Amino acid sequence: MDKLLVRGQNKLSGTVMISGAKNAAVAVIPAAIMAEDICVIDNLPYIEDVKCLNITLNKMGVICSYKDKHTLKIDSSNLKNVSVTFDEVRRMRASYYLLGALLARFKRAEVAMPGGCNFGTRPIDLHLKGFRALGAKVEIDGEIVRVYADKLVGANIYMDTVSVGATINIMLAATMAEGTTEIENAAKEPHIVDVANFLNMMGAKIKGAGTDVIRITGVENLHGAEYTIIPDQIEAGTYMIAAAITHGKVIVKNIIPKHMDSLSAKLIEIGVNINEGDDYIEVDSTNSKLKSTSIKTMAYPGFPTDLQPQIAALLSICEGTSMITENIWDKRYQYTDELKRFGAKINVEGRIAIIEGISELSGADVEATDLRAGAAMILAALAARGETTISAVKYIDRGYEEVEHKFSQLGADIKRVSV
Ligand code: EPU
Repeated sequence: MDKLLVRGQNKLSGTVMISGAKNAAVAVIPAAIMAEDICVIDNLPYIEDVKCLNITLNKMGVICSYKDKHTLKIDSSNLKNVSVTFDEVRRMRASYYLLGALLARFKRAEVAMPGGCNFGTRPIDLHLKGFRALGAKVEIDGEIVRVYADKLVGANIYMDTVSVGATINIMLAATMAEGTTEIENAAKEPHIVDVANFLNMMGAKIKGAGTDVIRITGVENLHGAEYTIIPDQIEAGTYMIAAAITHGKVIVKNIIPKHMDSLSAKLIEIGVNINEGDDYIEVDSTNSKLKSTSIKTMAYPGFPTDLQPQIAALLSICEGTSMITENIWDKRYQYTDELKRFGAKINVEGRIAIIEGISELSGADVEATDLRAGAAMILAALAARGETTISAVKYIDRGYEEVEHKFSQLGADIKRVSV
């Protein structure tokens, strides 16, 4: 069990290189097994979720080998096993993409459902509704979801709720269905476009990814492709907020600035200077007087729920009263009890958190209750007077590559200890 020890109040400065997007990687890797030959995926983040997926695929008979830390060669030519057990995927929620990918290629799949972070009910009814609309039968047997079909046939599918996972999963299955599928009220996150681009490079016919309506004309086979994953919007946002909370000046590099618009707008409202370049954003908070604001989490291009805990850490030292409305997950405020240990003044009622800004946080012993909560703990610790110990670092390792190394390079006093 690792812990992070952080001594706060160093102003961060310098440049941080952002890794590839976790949530694109965990969909692109399953998509790769839809080809009957070799795919090479580059710019993968070297994080636990990707390592876990790699191990799972190897157990299924896919030959995954790292060419280097960020490049994975995926050879699915001998893949025959369409069953994925709970042991293999218990730590990883995105195992659900294996359902869509296997259903597309083999017309059947059996996958244990899903692990990952726990912040409320995380249903997959929309994924299953989509598979049924394409003609698949769905059976749920304890923790195992079984889907099968003689053939998949394109359909018009309206998503009751905007769902990233269901949009991608239905897109995967529909890619190899007969005829045309239209997904309406689709999610528009950057990683949906990334997965669609990758599938198209493999020979799929997908149009409209990144808009409300995705049109997919089914194809019989997909071939191997080489692909580079987009940068991680949420990792980038976490470092942008880190610069702001420490009154530092940081260049967050290897990103697509457009993906950061909702966060950049909020940081400007809070009083932070933002300068955009082609593939970087400079965040300058050195002379900023940080002010409160209101934030509502929404599907892309709205403010991402996956940056909600991190921005709450920042708002806890912004002058005045801030309000957050969480619209995506029903239990994403578990971290607020941990943030209060730093002295933060937060009151949560249902989906709303009211934060009274205080002048300074104080170091504390806290726990990372989930991945993004863990990131928020690091940010609070960086701003706090004195020393902080963060436990359950395994959650942070799921989604942040070499987190203590990247923060150290920016001047943070942070180290990992094994307990
Ligand atoms: N929903 C349903 N039924 C479904 C699917 C979703 O009701 O079948 C609801 C959920 O309960 C939620 C909303 O729809 O209220 C949106 O969920 P979505 O399906 O978009 O979430 P997801 O695909 O399971 C991905 C990310 C999450 C991120 C959400 C929202 C991956 C692997 N995970 O989850 O990322 O919070 O989208 O943007 O892409 C993280 O990276 O820390 C993380 C949790």
